[in-house]
Amino acid sequence: MDQEQLKQQIKQLAVERNALLMAHNYQRDEVQEIAEITGDSLALSMEAAKTDKDVIVFCGVHFMAESAAILAPEKTVLLPRVDAGCPMADMITADQLRQFKAEHPGATVVTYVNSTAAVKAESDICCTSSNAVNVARSLNADQLLMVPDRNLGRYIAKHVPEKECICWDGYCPTHDRLEVEKVKQAKTEHPEAPFVAHPECTPEILALADHICSTSGMYEYCRTNPAQKFIIGTEMGILWRLKKENPQKEFILPSKALICPNMKLTTLEDVLKCLQTMKPRIIVDEATREKAKLSLDRMLAVPRD
Ligand code: 13P
Ligand code: SF4
Repeated sequence: MDQEQLKQQIKQLAVERNALLMAHNYQRDEVQEIAEITGDSLALSMEAAKTDKDVIVFCGVHFMAESAAILAPEKTVLLPRVDAGCPMADMITADQLRQFKAEHPGATVVTYVNSTAAVKAESDICCTSSNAVNVARSLNADQLLMVPDRNLGRYIAKHVPEKECICWDGYCPTHDRLEVEKVKQAKTEHPEAPFVAHPECTPEILALADHICSTSGMYEYCRTNPAQKFIIGTEMGILWRLKKENPQKEFILPSKALICPNMKLTTLEDVLKCLQTMKPRIIVDEATREKAKLSLDRMLAVPRD
């Protein structure tokens, strides 16, 4: 079957199943193309919470589909590739978080949505890359435990200096390996291009950035900024929509290493198979779900940066 036939079959089956196809901004081009909704982690969570469809096909990684299952328990949430995980989310377990909390009694736990449901259930509030600073500012607390991303944690610490931020030592392997030299080289070769970076990058990389934001924030920035060239500090999947929305502009990826293997696992064949079999389904046990939902609901009540 060629790509066009696959896309046709997926669209037809999605209608029959009353399914919403969602894709994260890092998914393969063709997967983003068939999705009804594409977006960053926060936007996708919000759409999952409000859709009236019976089924959500989440083209992304495991924690994202889990968030959809937490927010919309009455829906069937499908993750086309159950092996699409997030190494950063797996860098802290619920047991480790309990131990971390015991070492810092009274601190408020702010958990990046890139985390398991069990870790969210042990947290006070969640955040995403698009609302992290506002979430931290909104809290009536002097000491924050930031898990699992040390880079997002340090970014928050810089912008919310009135609070003490103690960061877990997790990181995104894709963003963390972006080298300062590569960014400096891109800036030298394209001095007129603003450098826009995701807060999962290291503080040394963020210090070179003209703008720091979530993946969806990058679409907004590159669309509204008059510059004709941009250096992009995040996963390469974002380029598809950036180029589509701004055909006259140029986007430079400073490193070939900016690729998340987990985000690239899902193919059109996987999406079709999952709609045919209605598997793999993501289910979160009710006790964990209720506690994790409180952390997500508190986050959703905070406005975006
Ligand atoms: P956002 O899309 O929320 O910016 O998150 C980036 C990411 O790494 C998701 O895995
Ligand atoms: Fe996880 Fe990084 Fe991949 Fe996002 S890009 S899913 S944070 S490993």
